[in-house]
Parts: sequence; C-alpha cells; structure tokens
Amino acid sequence: MFNLFKTSPPPTLPDFSILGTDLHSHLLPGIDDGAPDLETSLTLIQELQSLGFRRIFTTPHVMSDIYPNSRNQILRKRDEVQEALDELGIEIEFDAAAEYYLNPNFAGMLKGESLLTLPGDRVLVEMSFYQPYRDLHRLLFDLQMKGYHPILAHPERYPYYRTAEDYENLKALGCALQVNLLSLTGYYGKPIQSAAKTILDLGLADFLATDLHHARHAENLRQALSHELVVKTLQASDFQKYSGGTAAGPHIRMEHG
Ligand SMILES: [Fe+2]
Repeated sequence: MFNLFKTSPPPTLPDFSILGTDLHSHLLPGIDDGAPDLETSLTLIQELQSLGFRRIFTTPHVMSDIYPNSRNQILRKRDEVQEALDELGIEIEFDAAAEYYLNPNFAGMLKGESLLTLPGDRVLVEMSFYQPYRDLHRLLFDLQMKGYHPILAHPERYPYYRTAEDYENLKALGCALQVNLLSLTGYYGKPIQSAAKTILDLGLADFLATDLHHARHAENLRQALSHELVVKTLQASDFQKYSGGTAAGPHIRMEHG
C-alpha cells in the first residue's frame, strides 16, 4: 500500500531576512527603468520589507545618455522617497547608491565628482550585455586607485562570461561579484541560471541581491522562497560570504542591520 504522507514538502523559507540588506534595486521614482512614480516606489519598498529586507540601498542606473542621473539628482529623489516613507510611518533603513554603467563616460566621471557608494566604499557597476568593456582592466584599476571597491552586478547575465576562468579573472582584477536572486530560479533563462550556479559552486559569489525593478520581480522573489536552489544557497553554512566582504576589499557586513 502506498503512503500518501511519504513525500516531504519542498523546502521553503518564510522570507529573505537571512540576507537582511538588499544592495541592488531600482526604486527611485522616474529616473530609470524601475519605479515610474513615487506611489510605485513606496509599494515596491513595502514589498521588499514584507519579503524580509530591513535595509535597502537602491541603485538607479547611471548610463550616459539613456539614464544621465547625476549624484545630486539621485540624492534629491532619495530624500523625496524618505520624506514620503516618514509621512506614512514606514520604518525601514533606506538609502541610495547607483549602478554605474562602465563606458568612456564613466571613466571620465571617475576623474570628477565622487561616486555614490555602498558601505565600505563599494561601487556597483554593470556592463553591456553584448561585449565586455574594452578597457575593463584599466577602469577597474583606476577605480581601486581612487579608493573604491567595485562590485560587478549580475556577472551571470553577461553571455560572454560563462566559464570559471572568466569569473576568477574578474575576482583577480579586484571585482566582487553580486549574483541576482532571480537568476537562481531560471527567471532570466537556463544559461543564466547555470552560470549563477557555476559562480556559487566555485564559491566566488560575494553578494546576493534582488535587482528589483517592478512588481513582477517582487512576485517572482516571493515564489523563489520555495525554489530549491535559492533555499539551499541561503541556508548554506558558508553563507556569510554572500553577505560579508571578500579579499577584494574591507569586510563589510550587509546583513543583520
Ligand atoms: Fe540593476
């Protein structure tokens, strides 16, 4: 006779409170491809809060002509959101940095104004999805000479980086690696899921983050709480490396407030 109660339920987590901090999202109103208005910003922030995040560093794109966001503009928008959070009595640690697109424009910017950083003088950067930035070595070197510690956003999403050697090289250049939580579920497709797995299996992932742009991402993050690879990754005993620092820079603790 078969036993109906034999199968154990798939592992699930109640929320992402084990991460505590999210260091990559697009929540400032109307300045990139994330929240289009203040109302959506507030909804998405509350979504992240209900997903267990207690501290949010939102990171609008800074990408020359497409999203030419200046430091002041980002900080103004941050203040606007903070004011609305205060008015509504929503208590969450909220701040802004940026996701800088690596190109000659950014290389020029590096010579001028100071960059918006995550704790520990870390700078979140991204690249074209078509080809690596041709002067990547030089730019990563210059960033570090200025005292910044680069974190490459979602290395698993760049189709020209797929091998262990690719990811090891980035680390050797002083770049920390931030994997998107939704990459682990296959949200961006199978090749990206398997690249994310490679990075995790090699122990090269420094941070996990949401890269939240809209409500559909939030919905998928909620579903990810019962995704085996997500649960396993968050529960891994060597998990601290995703929330702490790396040899690439000073150790910071992005979790537990
Ligand atoms: Fe992003």
